[in-house]
Amino acid sequence: MTSFWSMWISVITLAVIFGCLILVMRTRKSEVYKETTTETMHHAFDGIEELDNPLPRWWFNMFLITIVFGLVYLFLYPGLGNYKGYLNWTSYNQWEEEMAHAEEHYKPVFAKFAGLSVEEIATNDNARLMGQRMFNNNCALCHGQGGAGAYGFPNLSDSDWLYGGDGATIKASITNGRSGAMPGWGAVIGEDGVRNVTSYVMSISGQAADATAAAQGKTTYQAMCVACHGVDGTGNKLLGAPNLTDDVWLYGSTFEKVAHTIRQGRAGVMPAHGALLSDDKIHLISGYVYSLSN
Ligand code: HEC
Ligand code: HEC
Repeated sequence: MTSFWSMWISVITLAVIFGCLILVMRTRKSEVYKETTTETMHHAFDGIEELDNPLPRWWFNMFLITIVFGLVYLFLYPGLGNYKGYLNWTSYNQWEEEMAHAEEHYKPVFAKFAGLSVEEIATNDNARLMGQRMFNNNCALCHGQGGAGAYGFPNLSDSDWLYGGDGATIKASITNGRSGAMPGWGAVIGEDGVRNVTSYVMSISGQAADATAAAQGKTTYQAMCVACHGVDGTGNKLLGAPNLTDDVWLYGSTFEKVAHTIRQGRAGVMPAHGALLSDDKIHLISGYVYSLSN
């Protein structure tokens, strides 16, 4: 906030509070009777008259207390423009403190399972359920409930893995993240090249394909694709290059979808969670993920 608006807010806020104080004091002073009286205000509404009693003392004091409370509050907490308050309180600080407190409090709960291997967590009901809850909170938005996957987001509940499905590899995928780099080939091999090699990919994955085009595509495949997808097309887990011979697809199985992948390339990113979640938590989540396919 600029200092002009900061001043603007502060001046108006304080002026209103002091205005209230003046109003309360002035009304007090202008009272005719200082004690309870039977004298009326000399006007009547539908035959109902009003006694000219002074404001009860407790009521008057409540006004004063409210004003003092307001001033003390504005001194301690942020409320006057840019002034941060004597206590330096922010909702963010409070949230951080609560998180640190929770971290401290629940640490032993998570640490209890640190001694189990990822594979053992998968068969321990308590540990697996804790992993499942954390998975739902942190991972399901991309990988779906139960790890079923979605377009561009791998299914974690089948036994087909881009990078590997043993405990240590799953844990590494989560901690360090992954990025799949499939270069685009449209500019290199041209549109005919793309359609031929797509036919070849269709044929090795057991789908209907034009045999002549597939035969021509095979030459391109052997020149351009084997380095990552392997001579037989079964992929390479070190690079996260998918197996092209099974019927599991990250980006769709139709001719047009496969051709699009080959033409434009793909770059799926699994964000690293090492800095977001403690190692003990990642350990439990890994156990849950492992359990989905074992
Ligand atoms: C922002 C979306 C996103 C979130 C959140 C996310 N992932 Fe991923 N994850 C991906 C993508 C995309 C890939 C595939 C990367 C690639 O294409 O190489 C992936 C890959 C993986 C893999 C490797 C799969 C394989 O076949 O080898 C595992 C395991 C995994 N994620 C687990 C998790 C877990 C557990 C969480 C929660 C802690 C999580 N992911 C959160 C998007 C996400
Ligand atoms: C540098 C290594 C590399 C090369 C070379 C490469 N790819 Fe890929 N390819 C990948 C990676 C990694 C992915 C996964 C991308 C992702 O995770 O987002 C992939 C994905 C694919 C997919 C999508 C699979 C699916 O499940 O949806 C197809 C199809 C494909 N590549 C075909 C080819 C063809 C055909 C060639 C040769 C013209 C080729 N690739 C060359 C690394 C490579």
